[in-house]
Amino acid sequence: MLSSVRIKTICSQLDACKVFADVGCDHGYCTEYMLKNGLCQRAVISDISAPSLKKAQTLLAEYERAGMLDAVCCDGLEGIPESVDEVLIAGMGGREIAQIMKRSFIPEKFVLQPMKNSEEVRRFLVGSGCKIVSDFTFRDGKFYDLIKGERTGGKEAYTEEEFAFGRDNIRSGGGDFREFIRISMEKIATYLSDGMSEEHRAELNARLDRLKRIYHGNV
Ligand SMILES: C[S@@+](CC[C@H](N)C(=O)[O-])C[C@H]1O[C@@H](n2cnc3c(N)ncnc32)[C@H](O)[C@@H]1O
Repeated sequence: MLSSVRIKTICSQLDACKVFADVGCDHGYCTEYMLKNGLCQRAVISDISAPSLKKAQTLLAEYERAGMLDAVCCDGLEGIPESVDEVLIAGMGGREIAQIMKRSFIPEKFVLQPMKNSEEVRRFLVGSGCKIVSDFTFRDGKFYDLIKGERTGGKEAYTEEEFAFGRDNIRSGGGDFREFIRISMEKIATYLSDGMSEEHRAELNARLDRLKRIYHGNV
């Protein structure tokens, strides 16, 4: 069941593949989308929490019975075969997502949807020779980042702004990202109207200037 804009947006970035893995699957909706639409031949679902994994197994019981689904209760990628073609890791913090790949392996193709600290994910990926093929901000009430990439072995040159906000956002500057920047600027302007130390004020002004440069495409 594609119940939210967030889940629909994640699914829209998943490519057809032979074996798909959903790490931290919880409800299992993304795997259901892949299997139901014939976008993968087999899937592996995993979660560190047995009750969460059980939820997905219940939803996907027909596929498990048909031998098209393996369910593994494990930490990150530890129980996932390296041979899977595409891995989704969504709905966790960016630091946790980067740690999961550091501890195990970087999948050949991946779709990542960090809830925060996207910059740490980008720095890890670019520093580990991955190509980020798309990286954008979208809105489902809150703002989220979606990072899709491949393990290529190359090395890309990223600017500080691209690490912080994502290359597609910086280059296109539009859509939900523009709204994210506008709202972030408004929040800072509101904070600045309160009393605070000179040091804190200078820090907020520097952040505001950075956002203004991005908003006006001066990066
Ligand atoms: C907020 S839910 C996200 C579910 C789904 N991926 C989504 O994006 O809607 C996070 C899930 O990740 C699981 N999780 C957290 N840390 C994990 C880890 N290190 N390895 C595997 N699963 C983990 C949690 O148990 C939980 O079910």
